[in-house]
Amino acid sequence: MAAEPGAMILLERHGDGAEVALVTLNRPRARNALCDLLMTQLADTLDQLETDDRVRVVVITGQPGVFAAGADIKEMLPKEFPAVVQPPFLQHWDRLSRCQKPVIAAVNGYALGGGCELAMMCDVIYASDEAVFGQPEITLGTIPGAGGTQRLCRTVGRPLAMEMCLTGRKLTAAEALQAGLVGRVIPAEKLLEEALKTASRIAAMSPIATVLCKKAVNAAHQTSLSAGLQYERDLFYATFATEDRRTGMDAFIQKQAPVFTGK
Ligand code: CAA
Repeated sequence: MAAEPGAMILLERHGDGAEVALVTLNRPRARNALCDLLMTQLADTLDQLETDDRVRVVVITGQPGVFAAGADIKEMLPKEFPAVVQPPFLQHWDRLSRCQKPVIAAVNGYALGGGCELAMMCDVIYASDEAVFGQPEITLGTIPGAGGTQRLCRTVGRPLAMEMCLTGRKLTAAEALQAGLVGRVIPAEKLLEEALKTASRIAAMSPIATVLCKKAVNAAHQTSLSAGLQYERDLFYATFATEDRRTGMDAFIQKQAPVFTGK
């Protein structure tokens, strides 16, 4: 297929203070296959959003019927071992999982292979009732390479993750909800609206507490329980060094809505 002209990542700002960034994967003719250029543009966009103080929350979505069909198979086909084992192959794929700001995936269709892996790098996953999740790499004679075996296992448990990775079996949105892979299933026409609503809600919280909260929850997958509990306690203590913590508690007692300043 000829390269599609134009940006493969579309960026919109939402909210009165442009506090929600909507990132749309935009390679519809290739079902949003995650080619090197698209992933580079995504990493660059996240770099930009990370340093933009106005942006509090990022929402990532795809095209109607497809979130992303995985890594670009046509791009990968000619590659040999020496080329893939060295940077930059897949190097910028981890950028999303390193984003400090909360990221919501609004999965509006197929999320396969790298598409499912991309969704799992996000902090919240909302699925449309038409979404389909899977790790079909095994049907291509390979295996997941961007977290599929690891994040899926930690999210849905080893038996289902193993079955999905060994057979390529796909999950419907309802199955994904039951397995704990997604937070909510929403009718397709309402998906983006609901994801943006949740993003606005998170954006209204203290940005410092939000970053610390994300760090604490993510630590649960990476440490022992005792180390995780200690880490959580230390971050909880750290919120007492912020004005926002006092603002939030004071507003509760005064029966008012808190206005957090990020201090
Ligand atoms: N890479 C490259 N091109 C892709 C692609 C992919 N992952 N997925 C779809 N395309 C291309 C097709 O080749 C086709 O191109 P042409 O018009 O040139 O023929 C075009 O997009 C439309 O695709 P389909 O006709 O297949 O569209 P569909 O609507 O009938 O089916 C789909 C959609 C179910 C998503 C199907 O395209 C599909 O199964 N895609 C592949 C999914 C997959 O195997 N993903 C794993 C990739 S490997 C990976 O991700 C590794 C990793 O972990 C890092």
